[in-house]
Amino acid sequence: MSEPTVITMLINGAPATIEVEPRTSLADLIREELGLTGTHLGCEHGVCGACTILVDGEPVRSCLMLGVQADGKNITTIEGLADPISGEMHPIQKGMHEAHGFQCSFCAPGFLMSAVALLEDNPNPTRDQIREELGGNVCRCTGYKTILDGVEAAVSIKSGDNTSSTNLAAEVDR
Ligand code: FES
Ligand code: FES
Repeated sequence: MSEPTVITMLINGAPATIEVEPRTSLADLIREELGLTGTHLGCEHGVCGACTILVDGEPVRSCLMLGVQADGKNITTIEGLADPISGEMHPIQKGMHEAHGFQCSFCAPGFLMSAVALLEDNPNPTRDQIREELGGNVCRCTGYKTILDGVEAAVSIKSGDNTSSTNLAAEVDR
């Protein structure tokens, strides 16, 4: 049997040194060893996007990555989005709140992390670009419209335009 490996990483801005079995997924490491259960597991084989986190700023399905591969990486999970000092929500969290983006919210952490990565790359995406970039995340409840509304609300919040979003015209999404 393979021996555990000691890895170090930054997790939501804090350094962590942890022993990990070679076969443990990053998702299981985050949830079970680090206690960060905000990262959800749905399909566990790369389809649903519920387990999406940021690794060095890029969205990654943590069910498809091994924990040992996180050695030396900068990991951000849903728990790391709010301001660590004030607790103020991240604009994407505010936007989703404003737009009533989710219903059961099982999919929410994955959508939020994917949306954060999108807005880092493209601070003012079109609705079609948002739809395309979030196309790898699955929601069983909402029909997606309110999630897209929430990202648009976050764009408005980030730009200081709080007249935003929730009156977005009715349209057929996805
Ligand atoms: Fe990782 Fe579904 S749980 S993609
Ligand atoms: Fe229920 Fe998306 S809000 S799965």
